[in-house]
Amino acid sequence: AAPTASKAIGVSAARSFTGTARAQNKVAVVGAAGGIGQSMSLLLKLSGKIGHLSLFDIVNTPGVAADISHCNSEGKVTGHKGAEEMGTALDGADIVVIPAGVPRKPGMTRDDLFNTNASIVKGIAEQCSKSCPNACFLIISNPVNSTVPIFGDVLKANGVFNPAKLMGVTSLDVVRAKTFVAEHQGLDVSKMKVDVIGGHAGTTIIPLLSKVKGADFTEEDIKALTHRIQFGGDEVVQAKDGAGSATLSMAHAGAYFAGRVLDGLNGVKNVKECTFVECDLTDAPFFASPCTLGKDGVSKIHGFSKLTPFEQALVDDNVPTLINMAKKGSEFVKNN
Ligand code: NAD
Ligand code: LMR
Repeated sequence: AAPTASKAIGVSAARSFTGTARAQNKVAVVGAAGGIGQSMSLLLKLSGKIGHLSLFDIVNTPGVAADISHCNSEGKVTGHKGAEEMGTALDGADIVVIPAGVPRKPGMTRDDLFNTNASIVKGIAEQCSKSCPNACFLIISNPVNSTVPIFGDVLKANGVFNPAKLMGVTSLDVVRAKTFVAEHQGLDVSKMKVDVIGGHAGTTIIPLLSKVKGADFTEEDIKALTHRIQFGGDEVVQAKDGAGSATLSMAHAGAYFAGRVLDGLNGVKNVKECTFVECDLTDAPFFASPCTLGKDGVSKIHGFSKLTPFEQALVDDNVPTLINMAKKGSEFVKNN
């Protein structure tokens, strides 16, 4: 989409720029007027890494785009509202980040969002198949364990599926793991590294705490921290008391992950992040693990090895859940 981006910044502006390589890519946010969408779009704009930030929602996007466009960082911002403007919003995007859909209220599981969000995500995937089939698709909408398979099946049905470019965003699990472990161990959170594998719902979230360098855990610590990371989303849902789920920490996690995908597309070496992708690591069709992000999306799926018996049991116990959640998504696409 370089032509779109250079059109966006204008030829004269591009010529007059004398610094390092100018941001070229087009990044679209679908669900940009929501709790995650607004703050994530702000962070993406402030990153200065994006030539054209295209904001789409079914409501309120012109206002959000006008507001964010006044920030004095590199890149143009456009706002697009309603189904009739979705094609323009997505046209030629290099990355599409998708936080569209309803969030949880206390007492709900992510799977309780399936009935509403499955059709939202399916509709977005249909339009992406037409407008930007070569983009990287970063899915935030819950339940991720089903919405990613839904998105993939729509792309497959339209003959444009590239497994290297469809990623379920599990970065918030990694963000929480780093925060909770650093706090618990008195370590520097900015240097903390924790891999989280599996999926994005309850016990399918599997942090590999045995591999954290410099940490000294008892078995009880590992159990308690694992549980807190798995149910961190519920902490926020309960604290918000009916007003939704994590938005600000997710905006941070989503903008960070999109920035890393962008780095990979632009040739930065050794970009490695956990993400939920189609793979054969287990019997589940999709599974999260550390992946290298390159010029064409995921260039290497690293998987996992040498798990402790506790971690291996979590994988074994949760693969059937991941299989069922993916199957539920695939059945939905087949029947709708
Ligand atoms: P929100 O209700 O504040 O915002 C959702 C936005 O999506 C709204 O602005 C709405 O108008 C828009 N929308 C609905 N249908 C749309 C469509 N067809 N096209 C474009 N936009 C559409 O919700 P939120 O708090 O921002 O959460 C959004 C989703 O992200 C939820 O499903 C939530 O569960 C999920 N989530 C995922 C993670 C994760 O780690 N993957 C973390 C937090 C939240
Ligand atoms: C999260 O982990 O915070 C999100 O998946 C939102 C939720 O429903 O918990």
